[in-house]
Amino acid sequence: MTSTSGSGARPARGFEGYSWLESEFVPVEPELLVPGVVRTPFLTADACARLLAEIDRRASQYGGGAAANSMHDHGVELGALGLDGVVTDLMGERLAGLLREHFAPFGGATLDHHHSYLVQYGRDLDEDLGFHVDDSEVTLNLCLGEDFSGAELVMLGARCDGHRQTPVQPGEAFEIHHEPGTLVIHSGCHRHRVDPIRRGVRRNLIAWLRSSASREALPKDDGMGLSEGILPGASVCGPWCGAHVGRSRR
Ligand SMILES: [Fe+2]
Ligand SMILES: [Zn+2]
Repeated sequence: MTSTSGSGARPARGFEGYSWLESEFVPVEPELLVPGVVRTPFLTADACARLLAEIDRRASQYGGGAAANSMHDHGVELGALGLDGVVTDLMGERLAGLLREHFAPFGGATLDHHHSYLVQYGRDLDEDLGFHVDDSEVTLNLCLGEDFSGAELVMLGARCDGHRQTPVQPGEAFEIHHEPGTLVIHSGCHRHRVDPIRRGVRRNLIAWLRSSASREALPKDDGMGLSEGILPGASVCGPWCGAHVGRSRR
């Protein structure tokens, strides 16, 4: 898996200097919350703190990196800090089996590139995040710290592109409380938001994992607004969705 992030001079290649991290992964024990949303223990608390410290060290050394994306004023792009290898070399390898098993209908068996960044919620940072879907086939959301309350991740139901703005159905909405070291994995088309932070600072590593094969298989926009794509096997909305399956390019 390669990174699409980062441009210009990169401070470091890969993650070769961080072999200490190899021994800090805890066994993956996937808990299926709903189809397309999985939670698992992933990294020791000590490793989370060391990873954050390394991100901070590089951000101060290299000027904080580029803006991660338009949704986060305080995001830090990992590629610009030479840290996208954490996702490529370490996380990707450990999660390949899980991604194939639980996310194949969303492109999880053919993921080959990613865009990864750190998000930071706090009173003086980003305070919350509104309803949206991710520009990913599958999103990794790993809490690294620190001490906080609030800023829960609220899942609001997966949708195809044609039904993205449709109401949340009874039973679809549920909250996920982040804990340092715990990884949440969800399909990019699963709508979600982040509730307001109440205390402290929450810092999470986000990786938007993407599949060239899935994206190339989707019909291109023909200029008449016809952009629905079909990903074989994916019927993300549920049985009531007869009109659309899969998702389109964004
Ligand atoms: Fe998101
Ligand atoms: Zn639909």
